[in-house]
Amino acid sequence: MTRKIIIDTDPGQDDAVAILLALASPEVQVLGITAVAGNVPLELTAKNARIVCELAGRPDVKVFAGCDRPLRHALVTAEHVHGKTGLDGPVMPDPMMPLQDGHGVDFIIETLRAEPADTVTLCPLGPLTNIATAFERAPDIVEKVQEIVLMGGAYFQVGNITPAAEFNIYVDPEAADIVFKSGRPITVMSLDVTHKALTTAPRVQAFRDLGTKAGTMVAEWTDFFERFDKEKYGSAGAPLHDPCVIAYLIAPDLFKGRYVNVEIETLSDLTRGMTVADWWGVTNRPRNAMFMGDLDAEGFFELLVQRIGRL
Ligand code: BDR
Ligand code: CA
Repeated sequence: MTRKIIIDTDPGQDDAVAILLALASPEVQVLGITAVAGNVPLELTAKNARIVCELAGRPDVKVFAGCDRPLRHALVTAEHVHGKTGLDGPVMPDPMMPLQDGHGVDFIIETLRAEPADTVTLCPLGPLTNIATAFERAPDIVEKVQEIVLMGGAYFQVGNITPAAEFNIYVDPEAADIVFKSGRPITVMSLDVTHKALTTAPRVQAFRDLGTKAGTMVAEWTDFFERFDKEKYGSAGAPLHDPCVIAYLIAPDLFKGRYVNVEIETLSDLTRGMTVADWWGVTNRPRNAMFMGDLDAEGFFELLVQRIGRL
């Protein structure tokens, strides 16, 4: 059955690949894309999301700009990973397709209100500001959510932006706290799993060998953002974080995890944004999230190459 999804995103090269995967896959119906401030400021993420839709040949997709800053803290960005534009690498033309009128949060609220209970899957690929704001402003929409499948957090890998926190959760921990307490089914693509989705040289070559515009762009984006992670981790490539969210909707069996309690640290300066996951079941705190930790990397990249090849 086709899943109705809303992609909430801060592109980002890995967000871009996730959007391409969704737009190439009949298993999901993209109701709209909401941009949020994260990797780069909102103006750029809203622009980048449209660049990616046009690359997929889908200028009809509705793209909205959402929140331009986290709920309580100043925005932290990641140009050191994604470059000045957020989509550094190949030179891309400015998008022709318009940004939709209205705020991304209103789009989320209105779209969910119009759908039956339990039918829309939210796919956050950036800080959770838009989703938390929508839940706070319109608590009646929460029951419309079938599942929240998000990229964020870490347990064994601990952190990438601080020693204790993953970027998306760190940027807006108060928003993450609201989402993790929403009571809806949550699936978490943590760094523990995304750090296994590595863009090795043969995997990048497979995108390039597609010989299509989309394949070439994916290879060139990857070439760009790999340099940072290779240097940092000494790894063979970079983690393709966000596409894990969409791949899970298409082929859930590629992933393995545990259903555990996850709480978000919001108070400590030292560990702000930490996802405190009770992986070993040492508390009685109620389980609220399927926390992913492993994936079939070969199967994941086969799926990606096959689907990007359709664009
Ligand atoms: C997450 O942070 C961003 O830089 C990536 O797009 C991904 O969503 C990884 O920590
Ligand atoms: Ca992202």
